[in-house]
Amino acid sequence: MTSAARPFEHDGIAFGCDYNPEQWTPDVWDEDIRLMGEAGVDLVAVNIFGWSHLEPRRGAYDFAALDDIIGRLHAAGIRVNLGTGTASPPAWLTRAEPDILPIAEDGTRRYPGGRQAWCPSSPAFREAALRLVDAVGRRYGDHPAVALWHVSNELGCHNALCYCDASATSFREWLRARYDTLDALNAAWGTAFWSQTYGEWDEILPPRATLSTRNPGQMLDFHRFSSDELLGYYRAEADVLRGVSAIPVTTNFMVTAHIENLDYWSWADDMDVIANDHYLDHRLADPTAELAFAADLSRGLGQGAPWILMEHSTGAVNWQPLNKPKAQGEIIRNSLTHVARGADGVCFFQWRASVQGSEKFHSAMLPHAGTDSAVWREVVELGAIVDRLGEVAGSRVEAQAALVFSWESWWATQTDSRPSQSLGYLDQVHAAYGALHALGLTVDIVAPGAALDAYALVVVPGLHLVRAAEAAVVTDWIAAGGTALITFYSGTVDQDDRVWTGGYTGPFREALGIRVEEFAPVAPGTTLQLDDGSTSTLWSERAQPTTAAVAASFTDGPSAGSPAITRNAWGDGAAWYLATQLEPAGYRDLMGRIAEEAGVRPAARVTGGGGAIEIVRRRAADASYLFVVNHGDAAASVEVSGHELITEMPVAGNVDVPGGAVRIIREEAAA
Ligand code: GAL
Repeated sequence: MTSAARPFEHDGIAFGCDYNPEQWTPDVWDEDIRLMGEAGVDLVAVNIFGWSHLEPRRGAYDFAALDDIIGRLHAAGIRVNLGTGTASPPAWLTRAEPDILPIAEDGTRRYPGGRQAWCPSSPAFREAALRLVDAVGRRYGDHPAVALWHVSNELGCHNALCYCDASATSFREWLRARYDTLDALNAAWGTAFWSQTYGEWDEILPPRATLSTRNPGQMLDFHRFSSDELLGYYRAEADVLRGVSAIPVTTNFMVTAHIENLDYWSWADDMDVIANDHYLDHRLADPTAELAFAADLSRGLGQGAPWILMEHSTGAVNWQPLNKPKAQGEIIRNSLTHVARGADGVCFFQWRASVQGSEKFHSAMLPHAGTDSAVWREVVELGAIVDRLGEVAGSRVEAQAALVFSWESWWATQTDSRPSQSLGYLDQVHAAYGALHALGLTVDIVAPGAALDAYALVVVPGLHLVRAAEAAVVTDWIAAGGTALITFYSGTVDQDDRVWTGGYTGPFREALGIRVEEFAPVAPGTTLQLDDGSTSTLWSERAQPTTAAVAASFTDGPSAGSPAITRNAWGDGAAWYLATQLEPAGYRDLMGRIAEEAGVRPAARVTGGGGAIEIVRRRAADASYLFVVNHGDAAASVEVSGHELITEMPVAGNVDVPGGAVRIIREEAAA
């Protein structure tokens, strides 16, 4: 957090939702607020999409309804997470100023009728939006109900990359600031290739659709620019708010599967509190592990400080190919997994299910079926549990392991041309995290270059783009006694997407004691056999160990005979390398072996549970809390003594955790 951070303070763990009262009449508001009380809701986000209600015509403001709703919430003792209302421009604005509308990479315009139809570089949009922010900020800036400013909504969810002329102008300015000279830009982008050399700044465009593959350096910088551009927009709104109000400011991040366009490492310091939206993605192999990863990354963005889960769902979403409801107890398990991993707030999208609009089939706390429903009963049960967890707020998660995560590597990996179109950065991160998760190990997610001294084990999955100094943090830490696992495609290019030559893994090569000569990916569905009995897929490499010991080799496929898993003693530590994507069981076994070598263990001893137990410790100055989430059907027993906060029972020696249950134990003595 910045030194200017204004702490978000709340009594206990916040419990809340997005609330869109403009979709309902005031008699419904009365019922809503009564039911919010029944559920224990104490933090409500309003005015997220409020613009056309607050400013129905340019400069003509109407705050009556918002005044009313904030007043009602306040009277009920519910705090307000106040949207600035700028998430979607009103129709009068885009009609008057059509240049606000984004342009896709093929030059086609994106029209109003959905949401977020604005270009991040549009001066007209920014001017109109900041006028609204100023008006909202002045009106509610010291309202006693308002606990938090919620800037816009999920910035960049749909509009992160705009290719219009205004974006082109801003992109050039950004590039001038980064490179100073065209020579430096030409060198960074490798424009000697395909006659792409630029002689004037005005020749440079965003990477609009081309006939062939596009310049990867240009694409990488366009990603960096686009992330910075929206951060600049966030800052503009936040500056207005900070000028008129002392209330903390944040925006809801999208640390969730498949959203790649914003480098939140560079955004995080601007938030007074990290807030994240997370939705289970049933297209993934292990949605629960991804939830845990997203929660750990949210915590990592705040350098370990508690954060707020600003949105998740009570059931199905409306935007996946198949939208699944949650199983019985899953709302509670998911919510408490976020709390276990550092969330001091659990909020949902949304309070009452819409009956119209694009999201009418999206779940809510109060479903279409009403209060006589399993979802409502579980929401009320969760509210009561959250209420009992107040003492946990402010405590911090303990982790012995770290995983290095990089949006830049994500962008660089996913450019148009790569060794295999089936290779995805996030897939590799999820695979490595999944192995740690299956072992019940708690992991901090850290940025490249972050200090690693606090950890005994570091995992570096597919860190394709790496600067020498960032790699050195890892290799120096290994030399000082650390144990690391680095996986294939790591250390392939530098910050300009320029290949590190002399054998792949570049700046990791010496510490790994291996020279990778050629990549040899295999078609999806192909199984590769390793001589330790494990199997893998997706990737193989032709490599020579220099000083590393070979733990397993490929016995078939294009790299038969070449090492697949190696271990190199490096200084006082050990550098493991994995040159393929192991099948999940094999990955877990390998990770288990490495974790054991590093002395890394789960937060407590678990018996039973069929491998579906999540176990995390949060520690405060004078207490610690062990969270146990049983995602499976098999009962588990966990070694711990203290007081269980959900059942409100003492625990001596062991706690039983039935299938599907969660237990949170205030521990008797530091474990
Ligand atoms: C988020 C968004 C909400 C709602 C939700 C549905 O992206 O912030 O407004 O659309 O998803 O899952």
